[in-house]
Amino acid sequence: MGAVIIGTGSCLPKRVLTNHDLEKIVETNDEWIKSRTGISTRRISGEGEETYHLASSAARKAMEMAEVTADAIDLIIVATMTPHMVMPSTACFVQNEIGANNAFAWDLNAACSGFLYSIDTAAKHVLVDRDKTVLVIGAETLSSRTNWKDRNTCILFGDGAGAAVLRYQDNDRGLIGSKLYSDGSLWKLLYLHSSPSCNPEIEQVDNPGPHMLMAGQEVFKHAVKAMEKAVNELLEKENVSIDDISLMIPHQANIRILKKLMSRLGINQEKVFINVHKYGNTSAASIPIALDEANREGKLKAGDLLLFCSFGGGFTWGAALLKW
Ligand code: COA
Repeated sequence: MGAVIIGTGSCLPKRVLTNHDLEKIVETNDEWIKSRTGISTRRISGEGEETYHLASSAARKAMEMAEVTADAIDLIIVATMTPHMVMPSTACFVQNEIGANNAFAWDLNAACSGFLYSIDTAAKHVLVDRDKTVLVIGAETLSSRTNWKDRNTCILFGDGAGAAVLRYQDNDRGLIGSKLYSDGSLWKLLYLHSSPSCNPEIEQVDNPGPHMLMAGQEVFKHAVKAMEKAVNELLEKENVSIDDISLMIPHQANIRILKKLMSRLGINQEKVFINVHKYGNTSAASIPIALDEANREGKLKAGDLLLFCSFGGGFTWGAALLKW
């Protein structure tokens, strides 16, 4: 152990889009959305709230809490599937924006599991290079890749960013372990094409455009089973019981997925941090936003065992255990 989170931050766009606002855009209603997803509102980015802006703002707050200056950051990882550009990476935009001139920076795309993959990677960096400081960010502007005519998907997603600063400490705190998985064979159940290629020889004929496409019920079933299995395997590996967990901070996709997961794992809702009703599914940003809210609301005490789990396009999924 020793890869410790020493600061957290988050940033949400100003504009709130309610279920009633969505009633004016597609054929839906507040009651349907709430009962099927648990979502009431989500945040939508406007001018000056691009992915790297949200990411940089979340990063500044995490650095302030960690009492770390920009020039002390050695590595920036931005988990995103909605980068500002394909090149340069959003992490390079963040580096420039916050003035982290000594850092190297890259993006990591593991869809909604991006933050867990990034924390695992960051922890390995600080355990090998013990004087390094790593900034991990999950940031998305999913509203820019949502088909606003598709009621199956446009009700689910929102924008935002969350960040964490990691550093080595010689104690028993930090990331205990993680179990991360991918299954590329199921990609067609949840995907998002990039823009069409300019080279006609490699242009994909089945490209429906740069929008999220999803087989909702299939994704739902896989998400519950996969997260349950990952959590149980991790708990067994680390010799920890579900009753030992102080707080579970899951990816916030849908309240029904979370309720099924809680019931299968045998964990009480009081021990699960939920904010999906406010922000919808913010993909890679959802866990770090929730972590920062829990932290700032005083819900985390030194020595607490935190359990994270996620599921997303790819498919990608996993779980992580951390001593706060
Ligand atoms: N408003 C009103 N009706 C809607 C609707 C909306 N926004 N979206 C779909 N419907 C309709 C469907 O057209 C269908 O109508 P029909 O019975 O006349 O054909 C009916 O509601 C039921 O649709 P269905 O897709 O079976 O609903 P569901 O209970 O599976 O809920 C999801 C749909 C998307 C909310 C649910 O499948 C889900 O949450 N899946 C997981 C999504 C997710 O979390 N993805 C990201 C993972 S990281």
